[in-house]
Amino acid sequence: LYIGVDLGTSACKFLLVDETGKVCNQVSREYPLSMPHTGWSEQDPSSWWQACLDGIPALLEGFDPAQVQGIGMGGQMHGLVALDAADKVLRPAILWNDGRTARQTDYLNKEIGRETLSKYTGNIAFAGFTAPKILWMKENEPELYAAIAKIMLPKDYLVYRMTGVHATDYSDASGMLLLDVEHKCWSKEMCEICGVKEEWLAHLYESWQFVGTLKPDAAAALGLPESVKVCAGAGDNAAAAVGTGTVGKGHCNISLGTSGTVFISSEKFGVDATNGLHAFAHADGGWHLMGCMLSAASCNKWWMDDILKVTDKDYPAEQAPITRDKLGRNKVFFLPYLMGERSPINDTDARGTLIGLSMDTTRADITQAVLEGVAFAIRDSVETARSIGVEIPRSNICGGGAKSPLWCTIMANVLGIPLDILVTEQGPGYGGALLAMVCCGKYATVQEATNALVHVSRTIEPDAELTALYEERYQKFKQIYPTCKPLFK
Ligand code: XUL
Repeated sequence: LYIGVDLGTSACKFLLVDETGKVCNQVSREYPLSMPHTGWSEQDPSSWWQACLDGIPALLEGFDPAQVQGIGMGGQMHGLVALDAADKVLRPAILWNDGRTARQTDYLNKEIGRETLSKYTGNIAFAGFTAPKILWMKENEPELYAAIAKIMLPKDYLVYRMTGVHATDYSDASGMLLLDVEHKCWSKEMCEICGVKEEWLAHLYESWQFVGTLKPDAAAALGLPESVKVCAGAGDNAAAAVGTGTVGKGHCNISLGTSGTVFISSEKFGVDATNGLHAFAHADGGWHLMGCMLSAASCNKWWMDDILKVTDKDYPAEQAPITRDKLGRNKVFFLPYLMGERSPINDTDARGTLIGLSMDTTRADITQAVLEGVAFAIRDSVETARSIGVEIPRSNICGGGAKSPLWCTIMANVLGIPLDILVTEQGPGYGGALLAMVCCGKYATVQEATNALVHVSRTIEPDAELTALYEERYQKFKQIYPTCKPLFK
């Protein structure tokens, strides 16, 4: 047996996978997200560990823990976890969707310069990346900054609690803006620019590589044998790409989670000259390009849970009035920038917007606008990729939002491509389990594992009439952000 962990933003999800790739059990543990100021986003790393202490024993109920061979994780990327010399967490982790570092990001992109950053790392600075957060701590919390002894990414904190090894993998490290992504080593220049000492940094691994076995105290607390092997794991998007078989040359995965991402795998390192897409390492040993929007399924969750006060069980009922004849004909538009936006507009000040309301607008029209707004914003990243010559003839789709057949239909028609839904929907957790299998020697390579175990369950084909209607809507959608931009300042 293998355990795949998906350390998400709203919950940690655990999958128990057998030798044949079958998911035998799954368990999820939620934790809070703290937003102490508009645009800030923090989480307590101990709540992630607590989720493991509760979730893993629950996952193993009815199974023999002695059969578990390996653990692999996919984790929310970019979050800054800072530890002091006694391994105490210095402050809540500053997450991937936190926008407080606009000033530090500007400093990096404008004063150090986008070309220089891109030369050292393959990327420019975005507010959610890790390095600007370290500069923010240096400027705003100098005592805490002075006490830093180690920095790590969210899933690396869990690996550290489990094995005692300070490790990270290339895919996740790519999002720190401290890694020379092409050459897969830490960039001394970037560390200097960002006030990062070399001894703070983790050892680098490929995602499937063995990091360590469980420490005795961790094994006892998790109800597992000490022999369980933990691999380095991956950033959640790279792990989701593995879990959906998006590996090797030129495949695409779209994830509709808290964030929305477009992930294009590649055997070679390549940078998008506009730096609108991230150029990161992949968990299969290659690289990928990625566009990331900060609020995807979370827009729907906000509208459903916070505004309409329905529970997730009622989401299908809320979507039921949105019948096929309504698609492509909605008069309401929604800009999904509830946390500012990363790809491709890179604007921490951008905000959510509803446009086109009238006296006959219904609750369902707004629900539809929210789903469509996210699809249009995903299309923005797809268009950025297309503009640099990347072909995206079809894509996989995964994440919580992909559970909605309506949302998948809207996505397929807004993008005008077929979308493949996999047998196992939990991309990052399944990818984590596959990485653990490679680590334990069941498969020689990640591609071998995905070829053997990842299968398409069904495909959503676009419809010519709906694609044409959505094309017209998209052309209008594109005009909204530039028009509203001055109002967000
Ligand atoms: C990717 C990103 C998000 C998080 C979500 O760059 O910031 O997709 O990884 O967990």
